[in-house]
Amino acid sequence: MSMVEVIFTTNPGIEDIAADEISAKLGARIIDIRKGLGRVVATVPRDSIELIETLRSIHRARILVSRGKVCAEQQCLNGLKKVVTHPDLTKYITPLTSFAIRAERSGLHEYTSLDIARVAGDAVIELVSKAFSERPPVDLDYPSIIVAVDVINEDVLVSIELGGDLSWHRRGYRIYDHPAALKPTLAYAMLVLSGARDGDVILDPMCGGGTVAIEAAYLFEDSEIICMDKNPRHIRGAKLNAKAAQVYQRIRFIVGDARKLSSYIDEADVVVSNPPYGIRLGSPHEVRRVYRDFLQEAVSVVRKSIALITTEHIVVKEVVSKNRWRIVEDRIVSHGNLHPHIIVASPQQ
Ligand SMILES: C[S@@+](CC[C@H](N)C(=O)[O-])C[C@H]1O[C@@H](n2cnc3c(N)ncnc32)[C@H](O)[C@@H]1O
Repeated sequence: MSMVEVIFTTNPGIEDIAADEISAKLGARIIDIRKGLGRVVATVPRDSIELIETLRSIHRARILVSRGKVCAEQQCLNGLKKVVTHPDLTKYITPLTSFAIRAERSGLHEYTSLDIARVAGDAVIELVSKAFSERPPVDLDYPSIIVAVDVINEDVLVSIELGGDLSWHRRGYRIYDHPAALKPTLAYAMLVLSGARDGDVILDPMCGGGTVAIEAAYLFEDSEIICMDKNPRHIRGAKLNAKAAQVYQRIRFIVGDARKLSSYIDEADVVVSNPPYGIRLGSPHEVRRVYRDFLQEAVSVVRKSIALITTEHIVVKEVVSKNRWRIVEDRIVSHGNLHPHIIVASPQQ
């Protein structure tokens, strides 16, 4: 079977979860997991490439076409041209497919990323013109194919960006943009870490624009999914997003206060949620009181686990352990410019 090497990017902190999904859904072999850097490299059967867009845990994917070395001086750009001039590029770029180069550089070099893009662009035009006796069109705004050229110190990677300029996690259903929305990739990771199974009742009691509930509806066919928020505007937004995601019928929406959870919900198997961060709101004491009240209610309603992404991890650990629950997962991830924890707690057996 023909295999291609693919570089995946994901949210830093969930590389292991992305690697599991990549190998399970694509039948891929994982070559490298760059922990903390949000990168996973895998060899993927060519037949599975079209399944990449079904992955819920990745931001981008690139097929590696060529790799090589380049020195730092101006005259070394000739060496770069040699690395870019790889016959496999003509499988993707022809006189009928417009292309653009996206160049990135890190390290000390006498040339800039603009120089890299110019030399790489000329190399592609020359290569394709030779193969087809006609030039490929360049389109910097809406190219059909994006060739990524990364120069990291002396290493050069030339790859084809799958899915165009937009990261996968930005596409699709976000019609209503909640001001503190969670990345869908993190929502997916939390659902996996919560240990939820299809058929479980899954609740996000502070669901905002509904990211966790929508990802849960994609992941599970038979689960009852509940999206609750105290702000009716966010619930209206979550409904719009769920309609755009075509999972509206799968989710129950409630306007309600998570501090009084038991007056809305009798039982849930799993809570997966992204409560407000005190740091963002500028009132940590008030927010911590909300956490205490909400968690005190949640431990009486939830059967299997509570998974939260939060900067208020200390108060979460304090309340759950006071209620004799145990922490089964605690990891740091990147979320915007913050580094919250994903914490998963379960009742003691
Ligand atoms: C960080 S946002 C959630 C964002 C959401 N994960 C998304 O992707 O859109 C936190 C949400 O908690 C809600 N919230 C805060 N206090 C609450 C409470 N006591 N009960 C219910 N919801 C609450 C806020 O209205 C806000 O929408």
